[in-house]
Amino acid sequence: MAAEAKAQVELLDVQSLFSLEGKVVVITGSSRGLGLHAASAQSGCSKVYITSRKVEACQTACDALNDLPNKRAGARAISVPADSSKVEGVEDLLRQVKETTDHVDILFANAGATWGEKFDTHPDKAFGKVMDLNVKSVFNTIRLWVISAQCGHRCEWLSTSPEQGLMDMYGGEEAMAKMNPDQRLGKPEDIAGAVIYLSSRASGHINGACLTIDGGGRWAKDSKM
Ligand SMILES: NC(=O)c1ccc[n+]([C@@H]2O[C@H](COP(=O)([O-])OP(=O)(O)OC[C@H]3O[C@@H](n4cnc5c(N)ncnc54)[C@H](OP(=O)(O)O)[C@@H]3O)[C@@H](O)[C@H]2O)c1
Repeated sequence: MAAEAKAQVELLDVQSLFSLEGKVVVITGSSRGLGLHAASAQSGCSKVYITSRKVEACQTACDALNDLPNKRAGARAISVPADSSKVEGVEDLLRQVKETTDHVDILFANAGATWGEKFDTHPDKAFGKVMDLNVKSVFNTIRLWVISAQCGHRCEWLSTSPEQGLMDMYGGEEAMAKMNPDQRLGKPEDIAGAVIYLSSRASGHINGACLTIDGGGRWAKDSKM
């Protein structure tokens, strides 16, 4: 009995369970917003690739990350601008990343956009733009990386809850915060915590799960329906 209990309390190297030590990570749409929050959570990594369409925005984000006081010795953020909504853009991204690494441990297909518009008047062009980036680009990013066999631990990051345009349609930030049981909106640390979990050994047995980071807002809304 004692031996059984002893075996059950022995966890394999629990100190390193959430470690990202030495990992190489690519995050699409990481020049600002959730993608940049995700990048700032990767302080144990050796290389963090920052990519979005705007060259200057990518470089500014890299500079901010490279100035972080808690970053690992030798670690660096690298700017690789590309348009993820087009397959040629994803190919270009892959080519740029390959110039400075022979593998990628963590891939976040995060680049996304939304279009706040009423159902009746939603422009067809806007629908196409959102689908190209939020659906096709996620598929192509993961597909091309798998084909190139460059990726170890794959993470798909599909976020669908509202940002500014949609937030206005719900009555603004304060009104939206009040809809949540914890009476607040998400903070960068909420994203960072999930990113560290999904990128590390701690989530080793997670596959195909949808992690909702909304303070319980979705359940609160559903219970009122
Ligand atoms: N913020 C929120 O509270 C929130 C909550 C839940 C879900 N979401 C969703 O999560 C996604 C990201 O949200 P966010 O708030 O982080 O958005 P954001 O602040 O607008 O950032 C979007 C990022 O994607 C990049 N990007 C846009 N189009 C791109 C393209 N064609 N190719 C490559 N990169 C591109 C942008 O940079 P460039 O302009 O330089 O390309 C930027 O770095 C969106 O789909 C949003 O609807 C947001």
